[in-house]
Amino acid sequence: MKSYTLTMIKPQAVKNQNIGNILAMINESGFRITAMKMLVLSNEQAKAFYAVHKERPFYGELVEFMTSGPIIAAVLEKENAVLDYRKLMGATNPADAAEGTIRKNYATDIQSNAVHGSDSDENAKNEINFFFPANELYTKCGKLVSEF
Ligand code: CMP
Repeated sequence: MKSYTLTMIKPQAVKNQNIGNILAMINESGFRITAMKMLVLSNEQAKAFYAVHKERPFYGELVEFMTSGPIIAAVLEKENAVLDYRKLMGATNPADAAEGTIRKNYATDIQSNAVHGSDSDENAKNEINFFFPANELYTKCGKLVSEF
């Protein structure tokens, strides 16, 4: 059954011109991109997106980093999208990321870790709604996805 996850390509990976390389890894791993945009997160947006981490010591730096330049936000479709994309991303800290993962190839450290991916189906739905209204989500034949 089709399922969905939300990814962001983070500012350092965008600055380093790795958008194309990362999207190629995503497509080659069997994900379909059903929505995508490039934007600079506002302070309020970054704080809200990462609100779950607001008590963590790295929250301020995380918000500063995530607002430091443009990001790509995209919706990925696949069976088991959340778990399969977490495998493709690799460990949060690139020092622990397996060979062949996005973070092994393109992350520089735990903060500049190239990509974000949702950690559950419920969070995927919330994160997709955070970036994309229903009229920006497309099916394989180019029609709008009506529901998740
Ligand atoms: P992400 O998957 O986007 O979810 C939360 C982010 O917080 C994570 O990737 C990292 O970029 C960042 N993060 C997690 N742990 C740390 C840490 N110990 N120090 C700095 N940043 C962290």
